[in-house]
Amino acid sequence: MSDAKKKNGRSYIVRETSSGKEFELASRSGTTGPDVIDIRSLFTSHGLFTYDPGYGSTASCESKITYIDGDKGILMYRGYPVEQLAGRSSFIEVAWLLLYGELPTQAQLHEFDRSIRTHTMLNETILRLFNGFHYDAHPMAMVAGVVGSMSAFYHDTTDIHDPRHRDIFAHRIIAKLPTISAAAYKHSLGQPFTYPRNDLNYCSNLLHMFFAVPAEDYHIDPVAAEALDLLFILHADHEQNCSTSTVRMAGSSGANPYSAVAAGIAALWGPAHGGANEAVLKMLEEIGTVANIPKFIAKAKDKDDPFRLMGFGHRVYKNHDPRATIIRETCHKVLARLGRNQPLFDLALQLEEIALKDPYFIEKKLYPNVDFYSGVIYRALGIPKSMFTVMFAIARTVGWVAHWREMITDPEGRIGRPRQLYTGPTRRDYVDVSKR
Ligand code: SDX
Repeated sequence: MSDAKKKNGRSYIVRETSSGKEFELASRSGTTGPDVIDIRSLFTSHGLFTYDPGYGSTASCESKITYIDGDKGILMYRGYPVEQLAGRSSFIEVAWLLLYGELPTQAQLHEFDRSIRTHTMLNETILRLFNGFHYDAHPMAMVAGVVGSMSAFYHDTTDIHDPRHRDIFAHRIIAKLPTISAAAYKHSLGQPFTYPRNDLNYCSNLLHMFFAVPAEDYHIDPVAAEALDLLFILHADHEQNCSTSTVRMAGSSGANPYSAVAAGIAALWGPAHGGANEAVLKMLEEIGTVANIPKFIAKAKDKDDPFRLMGFGHRVYKNHDPRATIIRETCHKVLARLGRNQPLFDLALQLEEIALKDPYFIEKKLYPNVDFYSGVIYRALGIPKSMFTVMFAIARTVGWVAHWREMITDPEGRIGRPRQLYTGPTRRDYVDVSKR
């Protein structure tokens, strides 16, 4: 959409009240969602910065990939409601949609699936990197390190302005993330690495690499593979979240795309972001029984206590996170079909019910987010807590790559370089140590 088209004819007046001096800023509209005020000339024309720590009111870019309406609980990938994709699509098809903007034809889907299946193996020297980690290294540390090291191996796809290079990078990193993740898991167990198989689909292959051992045959449970595929669809992208913005920022300098994704993995690891799913399970295990819930709710409400109810709250969703609703429903089905006992799920349901009746959570619009229930399913699939955020990273790699490609080809794209409100010391002269 050209700049002229995006301008909606509306503008805003900024008036400095004491002097009465004023100036006008143009407004621009997207296809849906809030308008933006174009402040790009604010500093050069008026010597002013805006101030928005955490960027809660700031559009960092124009994007056509994912739309969220936090008040209505809406999440759409390229215009398709996530509920419809969760019920009818597959993670590989959603990956194509996020990367290329349209649902693939049968032929495109078949070719993309073949390309992913045939790029899952790792260079043997990359596998040897895992020996450099101690057995108790956190899997997220290993995955971030090994993904970053891919920039040391793949020199053939570093021309970020070559569409073919961008495609090879996209297919390669999406295909290899499960293999790298499984290698990290096996290293932490002291078990031999299980090679990928091209005859298995994306999620079945992941389960095979995670759980197969040389000593016996491994049966892939289709219920588990189906549950993983759904979770990956729901975690694939989420607009300009912390880790995606990190990938865009790192990539905006022209850095190697593997390094940009490694930066995204590092950002995702934080407990306020993708690390929350691991923190939720630890919290549920610490709560232990329904009788303890009030004590933890009180801790979450206590301004002097840093404890937060993990899996609750969201910067954008001030209504239900549509992903949490779908995952909660899936929990029921998966636990029943896997025949897993579900005390933690029951505890989570009770915690949600009690919290959502509490005035504090109602007033602050704190609802369960995507991380609140996902760990219960991962645990039922036999995946350890330490691997939960790695699962998030596997799925979100699709979104990171889609946004990296959009940023690289954005005609308005520039290196990210925010300014600041400086409140430090004004100019002062150096004093020799003998006179201090
Ligand atoms: C993800 O951005 C994305 O899209 C992220 C994500 C994605 O798909 O990429 O959706 C994935 O990261 C989900 C969020 C996972 N994180 C958690 O579950 C951790 C627990 N939640 C919070 O730490 C918090 O809610 C955040 C980080 C998610 C959002 O933080 P904000 O938007 O900066 O909100 P805030 O910290 O300013 O909180 C507003 C108020 C505060 O109280 P006051 O200072 O106004 O009195 O709500 C309180 C907070 O103390 N609050 C909570 C709370 N979350 C916010 N109080 C108790 N428990 C909580 N979980």
